[in-house]
Amino acid sequence: MHPNSNPFNPGAGTPPHTLAGRESEIAAITTAIERSELGRGANGIVLHGLRGTGKTVLLGRFCEVASERGWIALRIEAAASTSASFAEQLVTRLTPHMLRLDRPKAGERVRRALGAFKSFSVSVGLQDVSAGIEVEPRHLLNYGTSIEHSLPDMLRTLAEAQAEDGKGVLVAVDEMHDLSRADLRALLAVGQEANSSQAPLLLCGAGLPALPRLLSEARTYAERFFEFRAVTWLDRTDARRALVEPVEAMGEIWTEAGLDVTLAAAGGYPYFLQHFGRAAWNVAAFSPIDAADANLARSIGFAELDQGFFHIRWERATPAERSYLRAMAIDGDGPSRSGDVADRLGKPASALSAIRTRLIDKGIIYAPVRGRIAFTVPGMATFIRRRDEAQE
Ligand SMILES: Nc1ncnc2c1ncn2[C@@H]1O[C@H](COP(=O)(O)OP(=O)(O)O)[C@@H](O)[C@H]1O
Ligand SMILES: [Mg+2]
Repeated sequence: MHPNSNPFNPGAGTPPHTLAGRESEIAAITTAIERSELGRGANGIVLHGLRGTGKTVLLGRFCEVASERGWIALRIEAAASTSASFAEQLVTRLTPHMLRLDRPKAGERVRRALGAFKSFSVSVGLQDVSAGIEVEPRHLLNYGTSIEHSLPDMLRTLAEAQAEDGKGVLVAVDEMHDLSRADLRALLAVGQEANSSQAPLLLCGAGLPALPRLLSEARTYAERFFEFRAVTWLDRTDARRALVEPVEAMGEIWTEAGLDVTLAAAGGYPYFLQHFGRAAWNVAAFSPIDAADANLARSIGFAELDQGFFHIRWERATPAERSYLRAMAIDGDGPSRSGDVADRLGKPASALSAIRTRLIDKGIIYAPVRGRIAFTVPGMATFIRRRDEAQE
């Protein structure tokens, strides 16, 4: 069917047509927002999970829920690759909101928030951005260069101004594990402020599985400021919805057999549901998308992944790391016991722990529970076997 009307969207942070299986997280953020509006305490939500499970799109949904209720929702990307610093991004995102609040008839709390914002932007060297905002000298604060004190103070002051209209402020930080130590500490200070003050201020975040540990290492009791949610693969019912609803919304359908093939290929992994869903739509000449279409789409889809998605991961591994991955691949999608992998390689497990750690740091494998190891994406084991067979 025509690719122009294809409803599937594989990508990083690309919102899916159907955000399946995340109802409980959306209910949790809605409750947190409502409690904050009522001046009752609420914790922000921290999403953690492997790449491609849908953390970014879920965090984006949190922001939409907040914006729809008139909140100021600030989405910030902490990835090491973005050139703008954390404080710069925050000031840039805040500016349009502050300009909107800067009205002649603004009340005292709003004036204070404008003063705090201006003082903050000056303290981080971004005075140009807030040049257009006029504040009385008595509202200017003497913020030092460290944002650990100024950031929570400024955001709380803004949340207090928002509270006058029954609204609040949500800060959503993606790739939170990539924050510098100083920014992470400042953000945890925001978490504490959000937690202890009555102001409607919520801090949410998303990051890789190590994030909860990083947070508690950066500051004792950090775990008390947040509600942690693991974002994982979808179960069969939700994975099915993620495939069926976008197609039906376009007035087309799947056969049951076509769905089965695609569900098996994607394995409940959100990125793969979009990837194989898109391939099946493009392959099918007309609706319903049947098993023959889905089987062809499966081959095409895996060939594409072999050249891009899997290939990139494989290329990142050294020869010694590749031997380790081959020894894991014997267990299929796994998980494998670290001890079994060591036995297959004829080495004591301790001799392999450095390799294992490097593969975890590269995001190729992870430890679902102690002593076990698994690939971070489904299908990696079969990719390795396909690749080795092709080389023989
Ligand atoms: N709940 C879901 N249902 C269907 N597709 C999803 C879901 N969550 C994410 N996706 C899709 O998966 C892909 C990866 O999502 P993304 O948010 O970038 O993951 P992450 O941030 O965890 O790496 C995107 O193409 C997105 O459209
Ligand atoms: Mg992401």
